[in-house]
Amino acid sequence: SKVTVSLIKADVGGWPGHASVHPALIDKAEEVLSEAKSAGTLIDFKVMACGDDLELLMTHRLGTDEAEIHAIAWETFEKATAEAKSLKLYGAGQDLLCDAFSGNIRGMGPGVAEMQFTERDAEPLVAFMMDKTEPGAFNLPIFRMFADPFNTAGLVIDPSLHNGFIFEIWDILDHKKVFMSCPEEMYNILALIGAKSRYVIKRVYPKPGGKLPSEEPVAVVSTEKLYQTAGTYVGKDDPVALVRAQSGLPALGEVLEPFALGHLVSGWMRGSHNGPLMPCAFEDAHPTRFDGPPRVIAAGFQLCNGLLIGPVDLFADVAFDLTRMRVLEITDYMRAHGPFEPHRLPLEDMEYTTLPHVLKRLAERFEPAE
Ligand code: F6R
Ligand code: MG
Ligand code: MG
Repeated sequence: SKVTVSLIKADVGGWPGHASVHPALIDKAEEVLSEAKSAGTLIDFKVMACGDDLELLMTHRLGTDEAEIHAIAWETFEKATAEAKSLKLYGAGQDLLCDAFSGNIRGMGPGVAEMQFTERDAEPLVAFMMDKTEPGAFNLPIFRMFADPFNTAGLVIDPSLHNGFIFEIWDILDHKKVFMSCPEEMYNILALIGAKSRYVIKRVYPKPGGKLPSEEPVAVVSTEKLYQTAGTYVGKDDPVALVRAQSGLPALGEVLEPFALGHLVSGWMRGSHNGPLMPCAFEDAHPTRFDGPPRVIAAGFQLCNGLLIGPVDLFADVAFDLTRMRVLEITDYMRAHGPFEPHRLPLEDMEYTTLPHVLKRLAERFEPAE
Protein backbone atom coordinates (compact mmCIF):
# COMPACT_ATOMS: atom_id res chain seq x y z
CA SER A 1 0.00 0.00 0.00
CA LYS A 2 1.03 3.57 -0.52
CA VAL A 3 2.75 5.72 2.05
CA THR A 4 1.68 9.28 2.88
CA VAL A 5 4.18 11.85 4.08
CA SER A 6 2.65 14.86 5.84
CA LEU A 7 4.73 17.90 6.74
CA ILE A 8 2.60 20.28 8.80
CA LYS A 9 3.98 23.39 10.48
CA ALA A 10 2.93 26.30 12.63
CA ASP A 11 4.48 29.12 14.60
CA VAL A 12 2.97 28.64 18.05
CA GLY A 13 5.41 30.83 19.94
CA GLY A 14 8.89 32.29 19.47
CA TRP A 15 11.90 32.32 21.80
CA PRO A 16 12.76 35.17 22.08
CA GLY A 17 10.69 37.27 19.70
CA HIS A 18 10.42 35.38 16.42
CA ALA A 19 13.91 33.82 16.56
CA SER A 20 13.57 30.16 17.50
CA VAL A 21 11.42 27.39 18.97
CA HIS A 22 11.90 26.65 22.69
CA PRO A 23 12.94 23.01 23.40
CA ALA A 24 9.88 22.58 25.66
CA LEU A 25 7.64 22.87 22.60
CA ILE A 26 9.65 20.26 20.74
CA ASP A 27 9.47 17.92 23.75
CA LYS A 28 5.70 18.41 23.96
CA ALA A 29 5.25 17.75 20.22
CA GLU A 30 7.37 14.59 20.43
CA GLU A 31 5.25 13.40 23.36
CA VAL A 32 1.96 13.83 21.47
CA LEU A 33 3.26 12.29 18.24
CA SER A 34 4.82 9.36 20.15
CA GLU A 35 1.37 8.50 21.42
CA ALA A 36 0.00 8.57 17.87
CA LYS A 37 2.84 6.31 16.79
CA SER A 38 2.24 3.87 19.67
CA ALA A 39 -1.46 3.84 18.77
CA GLY A 40 -0.45 2.81 15.24
CA THR A 41 -1.89 5.90 13.51
CA LEU A 42 1.53 7.20 12.54
CA ILE A 43 4.24 4.93 11.16
CA ASP A 44 6.92 7.43 12.12
CA PHE A 45 7.55 11.11 12.77
CA LYS A 46 10.26 13.72 13.28
CA VAL A 47 9.78 17.01 15.09
CA MET A 48 12.02 19.78 13.80
CA ALA A 49 12.27 23.57 13.93
CA CYS A 50 13.24 26.35 11.55
CA GLY A 51 13.32 29.80 13.10
CA ASP A 52 10.12 30.20 15.13
CA ASP A 53 8.30 27.43 13.24
CA LEU A 54 7.50 24.06 14.75
CA GLU A 55 7.69 21.41 12.03
CA LEU A 56 5.89 18.05 12.23
CA LEU A 57 6.99 15.45 9.69
CA MET A 58 4.74 12.39 9.82
CA THR A 59 4.33 9.18 7.82
CA HIS A 60 1.17 7.06 7.71
CA ARG A 61 -1.12 5.03 5.43
CA LEU A 62 -4.23 7.24 5.55
CA GLY A 63 -3.71 9.47 2.51
CA THR A 64 -3.62 13.25 2.18
CA ASP A 65 -6.19 15.63 3.70
CA GLU A 66 -7.04 12.98 6.27
CA ALA A 67 -8.99 14.27 9.28
CA GLU A 68 -7.34 11.88 11.76
CA ILE A 69 -3.83 13.05 10.82
CA HIS A 70 -4.74 16.72 10.68
CA ALA A 71 -6.42 16.37 14.08
CA ILE A 72 -3.19 14.96 15.53
CA ALA A 73 -1.25 17.93 14.14
CA TRP A 74 -3.82 20.39 15.49
CA GLU A 75 -3.77 18.75 18.93
CA THR A 76 0.04 18.88 18.90
CA PHE A 77 0.04 22.60 18.08
CA GLU A 78 -2.59 23.27 20.76
CA LYS A 79 -0.57 21.46 23.42
CA ALA A 80 2.63 23.20 22.30
CA THR A 81 0.71 26.49 22.51
CA ALA A 82 -0.24 25.74 26.12
CA GLU A 83 3.45 25.14 26.83
CA ALA A 84 4.34 28.40 25.03
CA LYS A 85 1.75 30.29 27.08
CA SER A 86 3.06 28.87 30.33
CA LEU A 87 6.54 30.17 29.43
CA LYS A 88 5.07 33.44 28.08
CA LEU A 89 6.84 32.82 24.78
CA TYR A 90 6.35 35.40 22.06
CA GLY A 91 3.18 35.17 19.98
CA ALA A 92 1.99 31.98 21.70
CA GLY A 93 -0.52 30.24 19.45
CA GLN A 94 0.15 32.83 16.71
CA ASP A 95 -0.69 30.62 13.71
CA LEU A 96 -3.72 28.84 15.20
CA LEU A 97 -6.37 31.07 13.69
CA CYS A 98 -9.44 29.00 14.58
CA ASP A 99 -10.73 27.96 17.99
CA ALA A 100 -11.81 24.44 17.18
CA PHE A 101 -10.64 21.82 14.70
CA SER A 102 -13.22 21.00 12.05
CA GLY A 103 -11.89 18.14 9.95
CA ASN A 104 -9.09 19.69 7.90
CA ILE A 105 -6.20 21.82 9.11
CA ARG A 106 -5.95 23.69 5.79
CA GLY A 107 -7.27 27.21 6.12
CA MET A 108 -6.83 27.16 9.90
CA GLY A 109 -3.37 28.77 9.97
CA PRO A 110 -0.78 25.96 9.80
CA GLY A 111 1.08 25.21 6.55
CA VAL A 112 0.65 21.79 4.93
CA ALA A 113 2.72 19.84 2.40
CA GLU A 114 1.52 16.26 1.91
CA MET A 115 1.93 13.58 -0.71
CA GLN A 116 0.88 9.97 -1.11
CA PHE A 117 2.97 7.67 -3.29
CA THR A 118 4.24 4.15 -3.82
CA GLU A 119 7.49 3.79 -1.90
CA ARG A 120 10.23 2.66 -4.29
CA ASP A 121 12.95 0.10 -3.52
CA ALA A 122 14.98 3.03 -2.26
CA GLU A 123 13.18 6.30 -1.60
CA PRO A 124 15.29 9.40 -0.86
CA LEU A 125 13.17 12.26 0.51
CA VAL A 126 14.06 15.85 1.39
CA ALA A 127 11.97 18.01 3.73
CA PHE A 128 12.67 21.70 3.13
CA MET A 129 11.64 24.19 5.79
CA MET A 130 11.88 27.98 5.45
CA ASP A 131 11.50 30.85 7.90
CA LYS A 132 10.84 34.57 7.27
CA THR A 133 9.55 34.10 3.75
CA GLU A 134 6.52 32.99 1.71
CA PRO A 135 5.40 30.02 -0.45
CA GLY A 136 6.60 31.67 -3.69
CA ALA A 137 10.16 31.39 -2.35
CA PHE A 138 10.04 27.77 -3.56
CA ASN A 139 9.22 28.71 -7.16
CA LEU A 140 12.78 29.33 -8.29
CA PRO A 141 14.41 26.27 -6.66
CA ILE A 142 11.61 23.82 -7.59
CA PHE A 143 11.62 25.09 -11.16
CA ARG A 144 15.38 24.69 -11.40
CA MET A 145 15.30 21.14 -9.95
CA PHE A 146 12.69 19.83 -12.38
CA ALA A 147 13.08 22.07 -15.42
CA ASP A 148 16.45 23.79 -15.70
CA PRO A 149 19.06 21.82 -17.66
CA PHE A 150 21.80 24.09 -16.28
CA ASN A 151 20.87 22.89 -12.79
CA THR A 152 19.77 19.31 -13.36
CA ALA A 153 22.17 17.39 -15.57
CA GLY A 154 19.75 14.46 -15.62
CA LEU A 155 17.29 16.42 -17.76
CA VAL A 156 19.93 16.37 -20.49
CA ILE A 157 21.78 13.09 -20.05
CA ASP A 158 19.38 10.66 -18.32
CA PRO A 159 16.64 9.18 -20.59
CA SER A 160 14.40 8.67 -17.52
CA LEU A 161 14.23 12.45 -16.90
CA HIS A 162 14.64 13.61 -20.48
CA ASN A 163 10.89 13.99 -21.16
CA GLY A 164 10.49 16.52 -18.37
CA PHE A 165 7.80 16.99 -15.73
CA ILE A 166 4.28 18.37 -15.19
CA PHE A 167 3.91 21.47 -13.00
CA GLU A 168 0.74 22.20 -11.01
CA ILE A 169 0.64 25.96 -10.48
CA TRP A 170 -1.81 27.75 -8.20
CA ASP A 171 -3.09 31.30 -8.42
CA ILE A 172 -3.27 31.79 -4.67
CA LEU A 173 -5.26 35.02 -4.88
CA ASP A 174 -7.95 33.68 -7.19
CA HIS A 175 -7.92 30.09 -5.83
CA LYS A 176 -7.40 28.51 -9.25
CA LYS A 177 -4.90 26.01 -10.58
CA VAL A 178 -3.37 25.06 -13.92
CA PHE A 179 -1.28 22.06 -15.06
CA MET A 180 1.59 22.78 -17.45
CA SER A 181 3.93 20.46 -19.23
CA CYS A 182 7.66 21.19 -19.23
CA PRO A 183 9.78 21.76 -21.32
CA GLU A 184 6.99 22.34 -23.93
CA GLU A 185 5.42 25.13 -21.90
CA MET A 186 8.50 26.35 -20.08
CA TYR A 187 8.06 29.99 -21.04
CA ASN A 188 4.41 29.98 -19.97
CA ILE A 189 5.39 28.41 -16.66
CA LEU A 190 8.01 31.11 -16.09
CA ALA A 191 5.57 33.85 -17.12
CA LEU A 192 3.45 32.78 -14.15
CA ILE A 193 5.86 31.68 -11.45
CA GLY A 194 8.18 34.67 -11.84
CA ALA A 195 5.31 36.54 -10.15
CA LYS A 196 5.96 34.59 -6.98
CA SER A 197 3.61 36.45 -4.64
CA ARG A 198 0.62 35.27 -6.70
CA TYR A 199 1.49 32.15 -8.75
CA VAL A 200 3.11 29.34 -6.81
CA ILE A 201 4.20 25.84 -7.72
CA LYS A 202 2.01 23.49 -5.70
CA ARG A 203 3.07 20.08 -7.02
CA VAL A 204 5.29 18.43 -9.62
CA TYR A 205 4.34 15.16 -11.37
CA PRO A 206 6.28 12.77 -13.61
CA LYS A 207 5.03 12.44 -17.19
CA PRO A 208 3.05 9.35 -18.24
CA GLY A 209 5.02 6.44 -19.64
CA GLY A 210 8.10 6.92 -17.47
CA LYS A 211 9.64 5.09 -14.52
CA LEU A 212 7.27 6.56 -11.94
CA PRO A 213 3.44 6.57 -11.80
CA SER A 214 2.32 9.86 -13.36
CA GLU A 215 -0.53 10.37 -10.87
CA GLU A 216 1.79 10.38 -7.84
CA PRO A 217 3.47 13.72 -7.02
CA VAL A 218 7.23 13.92 -6.69
CA ALA A 219 7.27 17.33 -4.99
CA VAL A 220 4.74 19.38 -3.01
CA VAL A 221 4.85 22.85 -1.44
CA SER A 222 2.71 24.39 1.31
CA THR A 223 0.85 27.34 -0.20
CA GLU A 224 -1.17 28.65 2.75
CA LYS A 225 -1.30 32.43 3.03
CA LEU A 226 -2.03 33.49 6.59
CA TYR A 227 -3.49 36.89 5.80
CA GLN A 228 -6.09 35.25 3.58
CA THR A 229 -7.25 33.23 6.54
CA ALA A 230 -7.00 35.94 9.16
CA GLY A 231 -7.84 38.91 6.92
CA THR A 232 -5.00 40.88 8.48
CA TYR A 233 -1.25 40.68 8.99
CA VAL A 234 -0.54 37.95 11.53
CA GLY A 235 3.00 37.00 10.64
CA LYS A 236 4.48 35.31 7.64
CA ASP A 237 3.48 32.17 5.79
CA ASP A 238 6.83 30.48 6.24
CA PRO A 239 6.57 27.58 3.78
CA VAL A 240 7.69 23.94 3.68
CA ALA A 241 8.14 21.45 0.85
CA LEU A 242 8.73 17.75 0.28
CA VAL A 243 10.84 16.58 -2.64
CA ARG A 244 11.61 12.99 -3.70
CA ALA A 245 14.93 12.28 -5.42
CA GLN A 246 16.95 9.87 -7.61
CA SER A 247 16.11 7.05 -10.07
CA GLY A 248 14.06 8.95 -12.64
CA LEU A 249 13.99 12.12 -10.53
CA PRO A 250 16.63 14.79 -9.89
CA ALA A 251 19.58 13.41 -7.91
CA LEU A 252 19.92 14.57 -4.31
CA GLY A 253 22.59 17.06 -5.36
CA GLU A 254 20.37 18.36 -8.18
CA VAL A 255 17.60 18.89 -5.62
CA LEU A 256 19.94 20.91 -3.38
CA GLU A 257 21.89 22.80 -6.04
CA PRO A 258 19.35 25.63 -6.65
CA PHE A 259 19.89 26.80 -3.07
CA ALA A 260 23.53 27.60 -3.82
CA LEU A 261 22.32 30.89 -5.31
CA GLY A 262 20.91 32.45 -2.15
CA HIS A 263 18.08 33.90 -4.24
CA LEU A 264 16.06 36.96 -3.22
CA VAL A 265 12.79 36.23 -1.45
CA SER A 266 10.10 38.27 0.31
CA GLY A 267 9.18 38.07 3.98
CA TRP A 268 12.15 39.34 5.97
CA MET A 269 11.48 41.75 8.89
CA ARG A 270 7.76 42.24 9.50
CA GLY A 271 6.99 40.21 6.39
CA SER A 272 7.80 43.41 4.54
CA HIS A 273 11.29 43.12 3.07
CA ASN A 274 13.18 41.35 0.32
CA GLY A 275 16.41 39.60 1.14
CA PRO A 276 18.61 36.65 0.20
CA LEU A 277 17.59 33.14 1.30
CA MET A 278 20.35 31.52 3.34
CA PRO A 279 20.63 27.72 3.27
CA CYS A 280 21.95 26.72 6.69
CA ALA A 281 22.49 23.91 9.18
CA PHE A 282 19.70 23.06 11.62
CA GLU A 283 21.66 24.69 14.46
CA ASP A 284 22.00 27.93 12.50
CA ALA A 285 18.31 28.28 11.69
CA HIS A 286 17.74 31.03 14.27
CA PRO A 287 17.37 34.23 12.21
CA THR A 288 18.30 37.19 14.41
CA ARG A 289 19.88 39.81 12.12
CA PHE A 290 17.01 42.20 11.34
CA ASP A 291 14.90 39.10 12.12
CA GLY A 292 16.67 37.32 9.29
CA PRO A 293 17.99 36.97 6.73
CA PRO A 294 15.41 34.36 5.62
CA ARG A 295 16.52 30.75 6.22
CA VAL A 296 16.04 27.38 4.60
CA ILE A 297 17.01 24.05 6.11
CA ALA A 298 16.91 20.66 4.38
CA ALA A 299 16.35 17.39 6.24
CA GLY A 300 17.28 14.30 4.22
CA PHE A 301 15.78 10.83 4.77
CA GLN A 302 15.62 7.39 3.23
CA LEU A 303 12.13 5.99 3.66
CA CYS A 304 12.03 2.40 4.87
CA ASN A 305 8.48 1.06 4.77
CA GLY A 306 7.32 4.42 6.02
CA LEU A 307 10.05 4.75 8.65
CA LEU A 308 12.03 7.99 8.40
CA ILE A 309 15.70 7.00 8.33
CA GLY A 310 17.32 10.33 9.18
CA PRO A 311 17.46 13.26 9.30
CA VAL A 312 20.71 14.22 7.62
CA ASP A 313 21.33 17.96 7.93
CA LEU A 314 21.93 18.54 4.22
CA PHE A 315 22.90 22.23 4.21
CA ALA A 316 25.48 21.64 6.96
CA ASP A 317 27.84 20.79 4.08
CA VAL A 318 30.79 23.21 3.92
CA ALA A 319 30.18 23.34 0.17
CA PHE A 320 27.39 25.85 0.96
CA ASP A 321 29.78 28.12 2.91
CA LEU A 322 30.46 30.37 -0.05
CA THR A 323 26.71 30.78 -0.60
CA ARG A 324 26.38 31.81 3.02
CA MET A 325 29.22 34.34 2.68
CA ARG A 326 27.60 35.81 -0.41
CA VAL A 327 24.24 35.93 1.37
CA LEU A 328 25.90 37.89 4.20
CA GLU A 329 27.34 40.40 1.73
CA ILE A 330 23.95 40.79 0.04
CA THR A 331 22.42 41.16 3.49
CA ASP A 332 24.63 44.20 4.18
CA TYR A 333 23.89 45.65 0.77
CA MET A 334 20.11 45.22 1.06
CA ARG A 335 20.05 46.54 4.64
CA ALA A 336 21.82 49.71 3.53
CA HIS A 337 18.62 50.61 1.64
CA GLY A 338 16.72 50.89 4.93
CA PRO A 339 13.04 51.64 4.29
CA PHE A 340 13.48 52.02 0.53
CA GLU A 341 12.17 49.67 -2.14
CA PRO A 342 13.16 47.19 -3.41
CA HIS A 343 14.53 46.18 0.03
CA ARG A 344 11.11 47.02 1.36
CA LEU A 345 8.36 45.28 -0.63
CA PRO A 346 6.48 47.24 -3.33
CA LEU A 347 3.26 48.93 -2.21
CA GLU A 348 0.89 46.28 -3.58
CA ASP A 349 2.64 43.59 -1.57
CA MET A 350 2.56 45.80 1.54
CA GLU A 351 -1.24 45.69 1.45
CA TYR A 352 -1.36 42.91 4.01
CA THR A 353 1.27 44.34 6.36
CA THR A 354 0.98 47.09 8.95
CA LEU A 355 1.95 49.89 6.49
CA PRO A 356 -1.63 50.70 5.34
CA HIS A 357 -2.47 51.70 8.93
CA VAL A 358 0.28 54.33 8.77
CA LEU A 359 -0.72 55.53 5.29
CA LYS A 360 -4.34 55.85 6.35
CA ARG A 361 -3.36 58.36 9.02
CA LEU A 362 -1.55 60.43 6.39
CA ALA A 363 -4.40 60.38 3.85
CA GLU A 364 -6.22 63.44 5.27
CA ARG A 365 -3.03 65.56 5.01
CA PHE A 366 -3.15 65.47 1.20
CA GLU A 367 -4.53 68.38 -0.87
CA PRO A 368 -4.94 68.72 -4.65
CA ALA A 369 -1.68 69.18 -6.53
CA GLU A 370 -1.53 71.51 -9.54
C1 F6R B 1 7.77 37.37 12.14
C2 F6R B 1 8.60 38.39 11.49
C3 F6R B 1 9.16 39.44 12.38
C4 F6R B 1 8.08 40.30 13.00
C5 F6R B 1 8.70 41.48 13.78
C6 F6R B 1 7.65 42.35 14.47
O1 F6R B 1 7.52 36.30 11.31
O2 F6R B 1 8.82 38.38 10.33
O3 F6R B 1 10.07 40.21 11.64
O4 F6R B 1 7.21 40.76 12.03
O5 F6R B 1 9.59 40.98 14.74
O6 F6R B 1 6.92 41.51 15.30
P1 F6R B 1 5.76 42.05 16.27
O7 F6R B 1 4.82 42.86 15.42
O8 F6R B 1 5.18 40.78 16.78
O9 F6R B 1 6.45 42.88 17.31
MG1 MG C 1 6.60 34.17 15.21
MG1 MG D 1 8.37 31.86 11.19
